[in-house]
Amino acid sequence: MPIFYNEKEKTFHLECKNSSYILGVAYDRYLAHLYYGKKVEMLHPSRRIVSRELGFSPSPLEFFKDRKVSLDTLPQEYPSFGYTDFRIPAIIVEQENGSRITDFRYLKHEIVDQKPAITGMPSLRSEDGETHTLKVYLKDAVTQIIVCLIYNVYHDRDVITRHVQVINQGKQTVKLKKVVSCSFDLHDKDYQFLQLHGTHCKERHIEITPLRHGITKIESRRGSSSHMLNPFFALLKKDTTEDYGEVYGINFVYSGNYEGAVEVDQRDTARVQMGLGSFDFSWTLKPGETFETPEVVMVYSCTGLNGMSQTFHNLYNERLIKRHYHHPIVVNNWEATYFDFNQEKLAALLKSAKGLGIETFVLDDGWFGKRNNDESSLGDWKVNLDKLPGGLKEVARLAKENGLNFGLWFEPEMISIDSDLYRAHPEYAIKVADREHAVSRCQLVLDLSNPKVCDYIVDSISKIVDEIDLSYIKWDFNRNITETPNQELCHRYVLGLYSILERLTTRYPHLLIEGCSGGGGRVDPGVLYYTPQIWTSDDSDAIERLFIQYGTSMVYPPTTMVGHVSVTPNHQTGRVTPFNTRGIVAMSANFGYELNPQVLSKQEREMVKAQTKTYKNLRKCLYQSDFYRLRNPFESNKDCCWSFVSKDKKHCYVMYVRILNGATNEFDWLKLKGLEPHRHYQDINTKEIYTGSELMNVGILLPRHPYDFHGILYEFKMVK
Ligand code: DGJ
Repeated sequence: MPIFYNEKEKTFHLECKNSSYILGVAYDRYLAHLYYGKKVEMLHPSRRIVSRELGFSPSPLEFFKDRKVSLDTLPQEYPSFGYTDFRIPAIIVEQENGSRITDFRYLKHEIVDQKPAITGMPSLRSEDGETHTLKVYLKDAVTQIIVCLIYNVYHDRDVITRHVQVINQGKQTVKLKKVVSCSFDLHDKDYQFLQLHGTHCKERHIEITPLRHGITKIESRRGSSSHMLNPFFALLKKDTTEDYGEVYGINFVYSGNYEGAVEVDQRDTARVQMGLGSFDFSWTLKPGETFETPEVVMVYSCTGLNGMSQTFHNLYNERLIKRHYHHPIVVNNWEATYFDFNQEKLAALLKSAKGLGIETFVLDDGWFGKRNNDESSLGDWKVNLDKLPGGLKEVARLAKENGLNFGLWFEPEMISIDSDLYRAHPEYAIKVADREHAVSRCQLVLDLSNPKVCDYIVDSISKIVDEIDLSYIKWDFNRNITETPNQELCHRYVLGLYSILERLTTRYPHLLIEGCSGGGGRVDPGVLYYTPQIWTSDDSDAIERLFIQYGTSMVYPPTTMVGHVSVTPNHQTGRVTPFNTRGIVAMSANFGYELNPQVLSKQEREMVKAQTKTYKNLRKCLYQSDFYRLRNPFESNKDCCWSFVSKDKKHCYVMYVRILNGATNEFDWLKLKGLEPHRHYQDINTKEIYTGSELMNVGILLPRHPYDFHGILYEFKMVK
């Protein structure tokens, strides 16, 4: 059992593979955080509760004579505000008299071996015996509110997941103003804060800052997890690198408003939190009702950032994604045609895709209603027969004729003012009574807290899936949510979204849904559960993608990203990069093309054939491999490199891209990682054979780069 309860000391030791998480009941009442870090056997009693008197830190009345007892200095597991702790609370409950003070005290606990599911929300699975769960109940005597803290311990990984239930056992209706899913107090503040920030076309760039006194915070108030700040942060010890040192990674399984924060207090300890966004949050909880938070994933690594990322990657591949699919090589017509297509044009495009090794054609935006630009028709999921007189069936047939399966774009959560749906049901759009709509990309957001709206979406999509036996959907979401009367609606919106996705993925188990939000504006474990691949960014420029894919890989497996080769000059940056380099970058994700194959030269067509052939081999190993970041573009801006090593260590693919070239022709040795040191590996291109230890310790001597943006794909195969 990886959860040990010491009855005498009233401590709980949660044991993972290489880490320990210890909490205990302090002074017979408070739930204290005692330790989180590299595995320890036990804690000496003298270390269990470290309380020292501090001026201006008050004590509860029952400790009148013991000034060292203050919640302001006690390291806690789930603090509240107003009764001697001035730091950020984990929970705020507003009572009928307006008071927001609570004082949660230990009530009881239980240890169970079934990981509980979370109602209406995605969460990680566990296999038989893989996890054990600790539930600690706290109670506020005045309101009779019970908080149940739930810890799931994956004992063969360095993973603990947490969430919280708030149960109203009192007689009054209360309002929850804040309920985070996890909180704990680290002993010191000597950490760097790593976050993934961005914007449309520049997602998940890495930013690292030292913690300082006060609050370091990431959040989204946009109604979705957003391009701006991913619901993830990591705390790195000061000497931590890619391969060495301690890291705590915290990721939220949720696709809406969230907040993650670290407060360094006056005694230099750090309070760490992640959960639902508290900005403007208010959830009414009546007597007898329970509120459940989404899940937080906490990963500990003592092998640096790469160790943390590999733990997240394995966990998400094996225990998060609802179902596994064949991920086909796609050609998507968005950058090829934008809205300007018809049946004839598509027929020509499809014909030119024949024989290239591409497996699926995805018809993007513009096939429905009277949508010839982005000003109309969202919500009217009926084919535009002026553009496509044979309907979707005919497009699917044309695709088949050229050896391709068919996939289709939807933006199900949106509604255009100029649409039949809006004319019939203006009330389906999110709106506040006394204000005008705000538009973004000319569109409004459907109110997914309304079950009728959810039914409409499920029915509209199901009709088309049934009609053409669709096996692939690209699910887009192109604006953030405004005019929300309160943040309760935002949470109900996300619950509505999950209910729609749950119904569709259950009804159509074969249907692969690619997530998208203007590229990577909603990349989080909540949506990944249902959409196992996500269009990483609307920026398809290979060089910009290096940064985006490198940053995204901090948490999310490369096998959940989508990368496409597009034309040059690139539509977003105007940059011209070699076709080969574009292929190498896109191949590091779910591979495809974002172009019209008709524009390819003869030589490029041959390159596409070679790329799809290489990718099909690579794909066999990609889903069963460990990912290693070898060169960090954010550090040098000089180059970027990563590799995939199959779990059996027999295959290794290395993707290297030089950014701007230099004239100095320096000797540059690239050291590989993760190989079997004593086995021999053959470089598939040169046929040379090296030992694993040589490749890892001496490295590969990179060639002189002939030009900017030079890309190299190495493939090594274990030969003896
Ligand atoms: C944004 C997506 O990210 C693009 O790939 C494309 O699907 C457009 N929307 C279509 O409107």
